[in-house]
Amino acid sequence: MDSIVITGGNPLCGEVRASGAKNAALPILASTILGGDCTVSNVPHVVDVRTMGRLLEILGASVKQEGDHVSINADRLLSTEAPYELVKTMRASVLVLGPLLARWGEATVSLPGGCAIGSRPVNLHLAGLAKLGAEISIEHGYIKAKAQKLRGTRIYCDAPTVTGTENLMMAACVAEGITVIENAAKEPEIVDLAEFLVKRGARIVGAGTDIITVEGVAALHGADHRIIPDRIEVGTYLIAGAITGGEVRVEGCRPDHLEAVLIKLRESGLDVAEDRDSVSVKAGRRPHGIDVRTCPYPGFPTDMQAQMVALMSVAQGTSVITETVFESRFIHVEELRRMGANIRVEGNRAVVTGRERLTGAPVMASDLRASAGLVLAGLAAEGVTEVSRVYHLDRGYERMEEKLRCLGAVIERKKTGMDGVGARKGTC
Ligand code: EPZ
Repeated sequence: MDSIVITGGNPLCGEVRASGAKNAALPILASTILGGDCTVSNVPHVVDVRTMGRLLEILGASVKQEGDHVSINADRLLSTEAPYELVKTMRASVLVLGPLLARWGEATVSLPGGCAIGSRPVNLHLAGLAKLGAEISIEHGYIKAKAQKLRGTRIYCDAPTVTGTENLMMAACVAEGITVIENAAKEPEIVDLAEFLVKRGARIVGAGTDIITVEGVAALHGADHRIIPDRIEVGTYLIAGAITGGEVRVEGCRPDHLEAVLIKLRESGLDVAEDRDSVSVKAGRRPHGIDVRTCPYPGFPTDMQAQMVALMSVAQGTSVITETVFESRFIHVEELRRMGANIRVEGNRAVVTGRERLTGAPVMASDLRASAGLVLAGLAAEGVTEVSRVYHLDRGYERMEEKLRCLGAVIERKKTGMDGVGARKGTC
């Protein structure tokens, strides 16, 4: 398993471009199961997107990737089963459940199982599909779903589930009648998916609000679509500039998609400027400690929590970071402590007392965003940090070490075997 070796202490300065959003690409690629010739651009070269492409091919689709364009036609069906071997590597594979059921009347998808950040149930996906008329059973670790024809209805989601909202919205597109999804998640990636579906003939209003109304149509045709920029990647690079006392500008992004992050960075004393499609942060002095509470969009994103904990580890004063979305998303704290961070975890709160300096150390990544937090801490730390199990990073960050090197980071990938997609060459 590859690791990343960082020699910290350099203030990062310069510009990087945002890649396409992984969490928009995954549901959008899965939605091609609903039919037609689709070409999706600005698709990030990350392992999770490659895994979704492989899954679609297993189901029978033709998938062609050229640069950041992916052309897909899923009108041929070979299978309606998403196998455990693949689903266990990417829980977002559950996103094929709604489209398969809606298009082909059946789906067999391995239960994703838990992951490092929590139990991650899919009960709300299943309850919503059952309300649409699907017969759902769990057999030998697989979700088995069947439906002659899905029928529109009102669905209330007990929690604003992102992929649950996406699964139900996709299934409702070709259900009979009208579906109203209440307490829907409001993330920009859901809006991006809805825009792609509407281009293909779907009738959807309210995406981005907590009530989404879908009027079913007979079938969807293909369309072209450009994926929105990755707001979590943008926030990660802004914190890379902040944590090293540098000045970083991220271009090709949507500042309105990460308002809560920009507000919190400003609250900590950082100079944050934004224009139509770029955001820049100028650290100047050490940030001061602030309190942060993760919430569903438009609140502070849970996917930025580990990065914020890393930043607060070198802030002046004390911060309280409260994680309200997932039940165990502080695994990075133990590793940050190895670097000298002063953090106390009390239930779903991390109390961080900032230190002037962290010290480099060998640390281990446990999930995608935790590994990003460890890389950020390594960039700021004195000495060398080696982040192992960096395949977690390759799942969601495109060419991270290359982009950081463009900003002046001393960072190398130590190849010890599996090559992550993230190691591709290219411009920043
Ligand atoms: C999506 O995961 C993202 N993944 C996650 O990003 C992100 O952290 C999460 O939303 C929250 O924003 C993708 O979009 C591919 P949820 P998802 O369903 O949809 C509970 C990353 O790093 N819940 O919104 O799986 C659940 O336990 C990844 O890019 C149920 O109880 O998250 C959690 O507490 C990590 N039952 C809360 O809802 C369900 O059926 C939110 O989960 C579904 C969810």
